[in-house]
Amino acid sequence: MLTGAGKVAGVVGWPISHSLSPLLHGYWLEELRVDGALVPLAIPREDFARTIAGLQRAGFRGVNVTVPHKEAAFALAHSCDAAAAAAGAANLLVFRPGGRIEARNTDMIGLRESLRDAMGSLKGKTVLLLGAGGAARGALLALNELGAGTVHILNRHADKAAMLARALQPMLQSQLLAAGLDGWAERAPGAELVVNTTSAGMKGHAPLALDLTMLHKSTTVLDIVYNPLETELLKQAKACGLNAIDGLGMLMH
Ligand code: ATR
Repeated sequence: MLTGAGKVAGVVGWPISHSLSPLLHGYWLEELRVDGALVPLAIPREDFARTIAGLQRAGFRGVNVTVPHKEAAFALAHSCDAAAAAAGAANLLVFRPGGRIEARNTDMIGLRESLRDAMGSLKGKTVLLLGAGGAARGALLALNELGAGTVHILNRHADKAAMLARALQPMLQSQLLAAGLDGWAERAPGAELVVNTTSAGMKGHAPLALDLTMLHKSTTVLDIVYNPLETELLKQAKACGLNAIDGLGMLMH
């Protein structure tokens, strides 16, 4: 239901056609008979700040933020919650009266609870985290809160992995180590959990070329990508007899 008095929010990304948010929120708006809508908005990186200002002026209540805007969203907010501050990234901007913007990060909670459902505590466990962008930052906080012992951050550009480890190590108990994706072969046999936060494997992107047969049979592989729900990475993980977790739990939480 949407009338002229309805509350309108957006979900902003580039691309945005993969987003399930309009469907998901649309269902609940309908179910709860809320007068409002969540509108998908495809916004290129360079237009982000201008678009946000325009949406505020147009009376939007806020936006969900997805790839590649999460760091830019955090940067332009006037205030933020603790998760966004630690991640340096936000997946939700709330527009307040008077033009103030509040940034929140609920990604971390989604991933943490999805992992807790699947594995319980990660106390002392060794994790391979693929990627070093905004999603990886949030994932590091979640892994730390679940008690991960050592997290190896593996990224295509190894220097970015090293920078992320240096930036977050002072606030985390988990030991952070950094390497390039070429560090996979050496570290894979000792991993108990692999978390993919790269955009590789998303609809229209080629998957990472990793040899999953190097992982121990008890290893869990989680992909935060949820479109397609069963990514090539998860398909390969299942074929190797590994425990595969898709991104739906994270999205729902
Ligand atoms: P997000 O906020 O979702 O993490 P991002 O900051 O753009 O988005 O980060 C995307 C991540 O996916 C990065 O770690 C990126 O690796 P680089 O830092 O080396 O660019 C990774 N990524 C994207 N495409 C990739 C590909 N084809 N192969 C390997 N890594 C890829």
